[in-house]
Amino acid sequence: MVNLDAEKLVAARRAVEFVEDGQVVGLGTGSTAAHAIREIGRRVREGLQIVAIPTSLATEALARSLGIPLTNFDEHQKIDIAIDGADEIDSNLVAIKGGGGAFLREKIVAQAATRMICIIDSSKLVPQIGAAKLPIEVLPFAAGFVQAAVAAMGAQVSLRRKADGSLFATDQGNAVLDARFGLLSNPEALARKLTSIPGLLAHGLFLSEIDELITGRGDQAECLRRSA
Ligand code: A5P
Repeated sequence: MVNLDAEKLVAARRAVEFVEDGQVVGLGTGSTAAHAIREIGRRVREGLQIVAIPTSLATEALARSLGIPLTNFDEHQKIDIAIDGADEIDSNLVAIKGGGGAFLREKIVAQAATRMICIIDSSKLVPQIGAAKLPIEVLPFAAGFVQAAVAAMGAQVSLRRKADGSLFATDQGNAVLDARFGLLSNPEALARKLTSIPGLLAHGLFLSEIDELITGRGDQAECLRRSA
């Protein structure tokens, strides 16, 4: 039986080896990113000099608890290296992110990063993305309108709720729709259509933001770079 959490740790440790003194580091969200953040915290305690921009309130709290110095986009508009997880990714480094609901900030950090490294366990590298639900952040005012528009595109769409049944809200106070389109043959076209819906603030398709993929497979880290 594959130990997926151990694979996440293997991938996270390899990615954190690339973090260097003086860098601005983007910190992702989720269980895989948390492994990387703990590893960065360990290196900071050993003297690594960095500042970091977190992609969520949860990540911010974790980073603070580990003594990682934090900054923001008012202070730094560029990120040297970002490390984050994904829900699904293919070998062209096209991914679905946002299972944790932090994808709007994750996309900003990924776009701002010179080097964006995605870290995953081996179950998440797939031939074609789309089995995972595609998260969509919406202005609460427009949730019903956007849900109908996305459903009209052929998806099964639901408003994300917490375990207690109350509505899930992002760190920005927005709602999240989870859309199932099935396997995606043309994620670029889908992204264009989604982006044209007013009230839709972000979707979890990452088409070009990810530069490198590190997959934990057993106790090995496999590295894949975006081809030029
Ligand atoms: C958070 O919003 C997501 O984009 C995560 O990066 C993604 O859901 C992967 O999470 P895990 O690392 O917990 O599987």
